[in-house]
Amino acid sequence: MATHPFVAMHNIEKSFNGVPVLKKVTLEVEQGEIHALLGENGAGKSTLMNILGGVHQPDNGQIFVKGEKISMANPHVSQAQGISFIHQELNMVGDLKVYENMFLGSEIRNKIGFLNVEEMCRQTREILAELGVYINPKEYVRNLATSYKQLIEISKALLHKSQLIIMDEPTTSLAEHEVNRLFELMRNLKKSGVSIIYISHKLKEIQEVCDRYTVLRDGQLVKTDVMENENLEVITKLMVGKAISQERYVHEHSFGDMALEVEGLTSTGLFKDINFTVQKGQIVGFTGLAGDGRTELFESLFGYRKKYAGTVKVKGQAVKINHPRKALQAGLGYVPKDRKENAIIKDLSVIHNMSLSSMGNFERLGFIQDKKEQQKFNAYKKLLNIKVHNPRITIDKLSGGNQQKVIIAKWLEAETDILIFDNPTQGIDVGAKQEIYQQIIALAKLGKAIIILSSEAPEVMRICHNIHVMYHGEITAHFTGDEASEEEIMHYATGAKREGEKIG
Ligand SMILES: Nc1ncnc2c1ncn2[C@@H]1O[C@H](COP(=O)(O)OP(=O)(O)OP(=O)(O)O)[C@@H](O)[C@H]1O
Ligand SMILES: [Mg+2]
Repeated sequence: MATHPFVAMHNIEKSFNGVPVLKKVTLEVEQGEIHALLGENGAGKSTLMNILGGVHQPDNGQIFVKGEKISMANPHVSQAQGISFIHQELNMVGDLKVYENMFLGSEIRNKIGFLNVEEMCRQTREILAELGVYINPKEYVRNLATSYKQLIEISKALLHKSQLIIMDEPTTSLAEHEVNRLFELMRNLKKSGVSIIYISHKLKEIQEVCDRYTVLRDGQLVKTDVMENENLEVITKLMVGKAISQERYVHEHSFGDMALEVEGLTSTGLFKDINFTVQKGQIVGFTGLAGDGRTELFESLFGYRKKYAGTVKVKGQAVKINHPRKALQAGLGYVPKDRKENAIIKDLSVIHNMSLSSMGNFERLGFIQDKKEQQKFNAYKKLLNIKVHNPRITIDKLSGGNQQKVIIAKWLEAETDILIFDNPTQGIDVGAKQEIYQQIIALAKLGKAIIILSSEAPEVMRICHNIHVMYHGEITAHFTGDEASEEEIMHYATGAKREGEKIG
């Protein structure tokens, strides 16, 4: 008897408004395998999964589950086939509690039809504990950090005891220990015969946890193969169509005047005695593990958090920034992390999302200069390879990574002298990453002072002149970009070593 793959998608085709997005794509996933789905931003990964999940209907092609042809007419059909879907966009309802989100649409009731809140809370607690998360199931989701929302989203899929779990970029907001937990769980699921389709732009994760991979490019199948046969460079090339260098960008070290001087910045419980400077033309990186305090530090510096002590000088002038408006006035710009939640205005067009913070550039006599705005947009579209046919559609029609690119473009365009990027390449494909790095370097060359916050040491090592490592709210080491090594950074980021122990 021939055995069938758990899921087979054959010759799937899909167009949106006449634009083909998937062209005869075939994907087969065996029972008990972890299958990576790879490709650039806009390649069609989420769309293919939305078809498997019954969210979108294909124009052509067939789907088989264990050899039987199924029409995935809606998400319920897909779920009934044992498929659950962890969406790239977080699907949490902020005004509901954690357990209510977990059981939305599948509430547990007691014999006389009342909601069995205690049982739902118990199961929520149990399943979250598997991922190492200990939060009150009755907490409102809106009060939680993005990483928790992502973990709840994952747990929700686990609740259904599915046979196939689609994970569309599940780790974008997770810290390393949370990612490790998830991988452990994935390996256990696999042992019990569950299949997983795993989408991520973090190729090291892919290599660590996946058995096979499939690469899509511009909606077409490029290759399916066994993971262990390939190295990441080969896979990158399949995705992007060209080799991508991972070398450090060497750039000149002649800086201008002081742009930002920070002395003794302290906020109880968040960060302590932070000192650093950034000159015009300089790129300074901050790295560390989750909970190192770097995001809170820069949220304070930008006026989102008010309670801190210490002095801040912008271009030699002492400033007291207690509101983001003041930060903007002082010439600071801030690109937050988790931009999908913090920076994107969903029902606004792509082009307006880009021009929002730099309206001054496009406004003359009170109205926006359409043509100029369009020209600017076209330039960034080309530069960052933003996949969009009509920039007047709302931004939520773009692929996740392309939404990120639009927000980055908006800040590259903004005329601020000091620019802070938190996690600039979150959700962005390997090819576009290089373009963003080059744009950041170009801004520095124009004399802007740049600060990069990133949990990925290789990222700060590649583009920064200076690197500060943080641990538990303190700076534990300084490096110049060319003397840093990933290993050394890790010692300081984990608290294994402290500044005094470093020589020179
Ligand atoms: N509802 C929609 N309406 C119009 N176009 C859409 C819609 N959904 C997706 N698209 C388009 O389909 C293409 C593929 O998008 P998709 O979200 O599948 O990409 P992706 O591979 O998941 O990318 P990313 O890595 O950025 O998440 C994109 O060009 C996107 O703009
Ligand atoms: Mg996607």
